[in-house]
Formats: sequence, C-alpha cells, structure tokens
Amino acid sequence: MNNTKQVLECYVGLQWGDEGKGRLVDNSIERAKLINPEKRIVVVRFQGGPNAGHTIYGTNLKGELAKFVTHAAPSGIVGNTDIAIGPDVAFDPEKFKREIDQGRELFGYNGRIMISERVGILFDYHRKIDGWREDNSERKIGTTRNGIGAFYEDNARRQTRITFRDYISDRFHDRLMAVLKLKLDELLTCVLEDRTLDNLCQELISVHDPIRKELTQFSERLEYRLFEDYLNQGNHIIIEGAQGTMLDVNMGTIPDITSSHLLAPNAFSSLGLPRTMVKVIGVEKIYPTRVGEGIMPTEAKDEFGEIVAKIGDEIGATTGRKRRVGYPDWLIVKRSVLLNTCNEIIVTRADVVQGLNLKVCTDYRFDGRTLREVPLDLSSVVPIYTSNYWWDLWGTEVEGNPLHLNQKIEDARAHYVETGIKGLPNDLIRYIADHDRYMGCPITGVGISPKGEIVSRK
Ligand code: IMP
Ligand code: MG
Repeated sequence: MNNTKQVLECYVGLQWGDEGKGRLVDNSIERAKLINPEKRIVVVRFQGGPNAGHTIYGTNLKGELAKFVTHAAPSGIVGNTDIAIGPDVAFDPEKFKREIDQGRELFGYNGRIMISERVGILFDYHRKIDGWREDNSERKIGTTRNGIGAFYEDNARRQTRITFRDYISDRFHDRLMAVLKLKLDELLTCVLEDRTLDNLCQELISVHDPIRKELTQFSERLEYRLFEDYLNQGNHIIIEGAQGTMLDVNMGTIPDITSSHLLAPNAFSSLGLPRTMVKVIGVEKIYPTRVGEGIMPTEAKDEFGEIVAKIGDEIGATTGRKRRVGYPDWLIVKRSVLLNTCNEIIVTRADVVQGLNLKVCTDYRFDGRTLREVPLDLSSVVPIYTSNYWWDLWGTEVEGNPLHLNQKIEDARAHYVETGIKGLPNDLIRYIADHDRYMGCPITGVGISPKGEIVSRK
C-alpha cells in the first residue's frame, strides 16, 4: 500500500452520488501539498461526464472564499494541481474549456492538463437526444440531460465514437460528417428540426474548431504519463470518482442508473495504475440522497427527510433538482464497499443529522424472509431498522440553521478535529464502532462541516 510520502488515493461514492467526494479530493490535495510539497499532484477523472457536479470552495486571487462547481474538469482546478481526463470519460470540450478559463480567471489556474487521446467527445446532439428521450419516454430515467446515455451508446457502437485524437486531427470534419450520417434517423427525430445534416455539421464545426485548436496541446497517451511521470517519480495521484455505486451501469438499480462504469476497479483498468499501490476510499454520506427516478428503500418521506433536505441544502449541483433523502442503509453501503474494493470509508455530514433520531437499516424483509443482500429488484424490499443513534455535536441548542458558522460551533469543530474520532460524542463513537463491525472496513474520517473538515482517527 501507499508510500507515506506519496499520496495515491481513489475516491468513490458508495450510494447514489453527492456524498461529498469533491471536498474530500480537495482535502487530499492539501494533504499532498503538506506531505511532500516538492512533488507534483495530478487529479484524474476516470468516468462519467458533465452529469457530475462537484462543489468546492477555494481562495480566489482577491483572497476571498469563492464557490466553484466543476462538471467536466477535475476539481484540481481550485487547488491548482495537474489534471487528467481518462479514456472512459464522457468528455465535453465546451464545458471543460469554460471551466479551465474560469479557473484561470478566479484562481490563476496554471497546472498541467492531460487528456487521453482515446477519450470520446460528447457533443450537443447527445444532449438533445437525451432530452428528447426524457420528454418522450413513458419510462423516464430522470437523467441530468447531459447526453450521457446517448454518448456511451455511441462509444460502444464504435463507428460513432469520435476520439479526442480524431477531434484534434485534420480528419475531424470528415469524421464528424460520417458519424452524423450514421446517426441520421435519430438526429431527424431528436435534433435536426428544420436544419440539414450539413447545417448541423457546420454549426458543430464552428463551435468546436476554436476549442480543439486550444486543446490539441493536451492530448496524451495517459496510461504512460500517469505511470512514468507520476507513479514512478513519487508524485501524487488522486483519482476522483463521480456519481455513486448504486448508479453504476451494471451494478446499480437498473434501469435507473447512469451509463458509465463507476466502480474503482474501472479506474485501475482504464488508467493503467496498479490496484495495490492506491488506497481506495469509499465516501458515504451518513444519510443517502437520490436525484432522478428509481427506488431508494430507506427513503424518508417524513419530518426527518424534510429537515435533513433543508439543513443539508440537498439541491442537485448540476440540475438544481431537489434530492430525495433517506435513512442510513447499511446493506447498500456494505455491498458498495465490496464492489469498489475499499480500503477505508469516510462518512460525511454527521453534523447535518445531529440532534435528530437516526435509525439505521441493517436488514431487508424480502419474500417473507430477512435478507442481508441487495437484490436487483428493490421494489418489494422493506427496510428493517434495528438501531438508533442520537448525538449532539455542539453541546447546545442552536437557533435557526445549526450549520451556521457561529463561533461556538466553529470552536467545537476545531476541538473535534484536534481530538480526533475518540473525542466525538459517545453515540457517534458507538455508530462508528457498529458500522466498522458491520462493514468489515473501517471508518477513518467523519465529516462535520459544510466546508469539509474531517475528524480522523488519531
Ligand atoms: P445521467 O447520468 O444524466 O444519464 O442520469 C442518470 C441517473 O443518474 C439520474 O438518476 C441522475 O439523476 C443520476 N445522476 C447522474 N449524475 C449524477 C451525479 O453526479 N450525482 C447524483 N446523481 C447523478
Ligand atoms: Mg454532485
């Protein structure tokens, strides 16, 4: 496992996304800078596309705290690290370029940028096809309308995949026209309106020609660069997952899933990094949330759900939709720990549920039996709640929104960060111990702040 002087970490979501991976990646960057500041840091995206939304806070050039949401670019922009786009990403050059430009303007971003020559390009027609299907299907998925499904179909179909290599080469115009011809039926239905195929092709060319000129310099055979320039040189590598295990194209709640392979093993197979050298960190939000369609067995359609959604500000970073809140579902987390080959777990947002009665689902009732496995069909599963927890982190009843950054709370936060997990309230310690036993994988950090402060084991 990890050389202590080199941060090699992979962050993946254990539920339905929005577990707080972005902020943990940000913390990891800060840690890498402290551990070995002479070394470079690269933050890598390995799957998904602009369906993701990572909300991060950074200090801008004026010295103020600025909120930044990345969709296409890895969150290393804020921490001013090198960034890389793996071959299995749905790469949206328009959004990517916009985010890089914003990063330069806001934070003076000037890291090395690497884009796998193999990555497929996500175009506006993918977005239109996705939107059309959402509007016209009986069976909606509730996608983010970013074209993810349509993009991965084109990738799998092969002739319709425009790689980054194609995109930056002289053959781009011809390749694009050839692909549009192959997709004619679909484009007629969902995209063209009163335009011809030629019109559409010209439109895309005029949008993309300036972008591809600028991005050409970033094309890499990424598997070699990560291995030779980073891993072997003692540089830091931080892999940033998007979405969560229950949305994985094979292992999620089919068909209410995204279209990418988002488990950690896919990071290793597509980036060419040895599994044994990288620490896989599963990120679990203490209460799960879900956006879009699909069952969440422990969905809290009660006061708990309402309070948590409000205090936790559970609104989608990409779509602005309300996220549905659930009670902790440990079956799902345990399975995700297994699928991702996690070494450890970080639990986020223990502050949001403080002062609330937290019941935990440890078994399902299914087919008249008690079950400790997650079946494919969750529609007839009834959660069984066997444990209850309650903690008070701030030692006081706080007026209004308990997450307000008042002094007393800030002091309490600083105290917990100092003492580590053993200094936390008793019931939270009991929660962690029970969780460790149930999962067979330890919690090594607990999030207690919207800014991402983590209480670790000391
Ligand atoms: P798509 O990935 O846009 O096709 O959406 C498919 C499903 O995944 C929908 O339920 C989305 O709400 C969900 N989804 C996709 N990306 C994210 C994410 O980053 N966070 C949470 N849910 C997501
Ligand atoms: Mg998100």
